[in-house]
Amino acid sequence: MTLKGFVRAVDNASLSIRKGEIMGIVGESGSGKSTLALAIMKLLPPTARIVKGSIIFEGRDLVKMSYNQLKDVLWKRIALIPQAALNALNPVLKIVDHFMETAKAHGIHDKEWVIDRASKLLELLRLEPERVLKSYPHELSGGMKQRVLIALAMLLEPDVLILDEPTTALDVLTQRYILDLLKDLHAKTSITMIFITHDIAVIADIADRVTVMYAGKIFEVGDVFTVFKEPKHPYSIALMKSIPSLVGPIEEMKSIPGTLPDLRNPPPGCRFAPRCQYAMDICHKKEPPLIELKPGHLVACWLHVKREEEVK
Ligand SMILES: Nc1ncnc2c1ncn2[C@@H]1O[C@H](COP(=O)(O)OP(=O)(O)OP(=O)(O)O)[C@@H](O)[C@H]1O
Ligand code: SF4
Ligand SMILES: [Mg+2]
Repeated sequence: MTLKGFVRAVDNASLSIRKGEIMGIVGESGSGKSTLALAIMKLLPPTARIVKGSIIFEGRDLVKMSYNQLKDVLWKRIALIPQAALNALNPVLKIVDHFMETAKAHGIHDKEWVIDRASKLLELLRLEPERVLKSYPHELSGGMKQRVLIALAMLLEPDVLILDEPTTALDVLTQRYILDLLKDLHAKTSITMIFITHDIAVIADIADRVTVMYAGKIFEVGDVFTVFKEPKHPYSIALMKSIPSLVGPIEEMKSIPGTLPDLRNPPPGCRFAPRCQYAMDICHKKEPPLIELKPGHLVACWLHVKREEEVK
């Protein structure tokens, strides 16, 4: 809630993540990506709440779980590296103490186990454990700090890792390096990853499947190959055209005219309608359902509902 009314930051978004995959969630700033991640982790600020819905993990609903039940799932089984976490490391604590504190917060007091696990993780992330554990955050580069954060999130051996814009604050080369490391980590551990970014090019690089979000809604879901080769939602098509190309002429790269709607008072019907060149009457009146165009390829757009009906 805001002083000026309620905002439905994520609205009726239904999404399933497959074990062991990398699911990319993409959408422009303000589309509700972080809110989705924070809702899963029960980290929404006090002014926010989940009004309706469920978060099913291994058959159990996180929304209905008690505090004690959640303690065994959140951070232990599902961990999050929040957006802008680079600045969240405590400047007066050495990295080793960050690992100790995290372990202690979850009832682990075995120092040797923590150092051993932290060292293995740091090695996996191509950092020198000896040096890094003894360092203070300010002694590390942005890329090193990001790797420390990944190791910290993985300390309790989670099965699912949610990464919210993990490469956004980094320069292009470091970003590339972190993406390669994450791919390597995924291959070695087969951890399930939910990778959130506003950068569609990053999704192409790392994800198996992609969910396109806009103004709190899910517009398209599918495997990366299909969605990049044949995007079906006008917003996804526009996102693809916004990718800078090293080989194509710069004029081919297009920004999307207009801005996200005010979520305190979203337009009726399709939320993309005010910006969509294909908008029809129905788009301004009724919200399009998320339909399965082909197995695993879901789209919420009246253009495709119509086509489906014509086929029938
Ligand atoms: N605590 C809050 N109180 C009020 N509105 C909020 C709050 N948190 C988020 N919002 C609103 O919810 C919407 C979604 O925000 P969110 O941070 O989830 O977007 P995002 O997709 O992660 O954006 P970005 O790419 O900038 O990180 C925005 O309109 C934002 O203004
Ligand atoms: S439902 Fe209508 S307005 Fe929305 S994306 Fe499809 S064509 Fe455009
Ligand atoms: Mg965000």
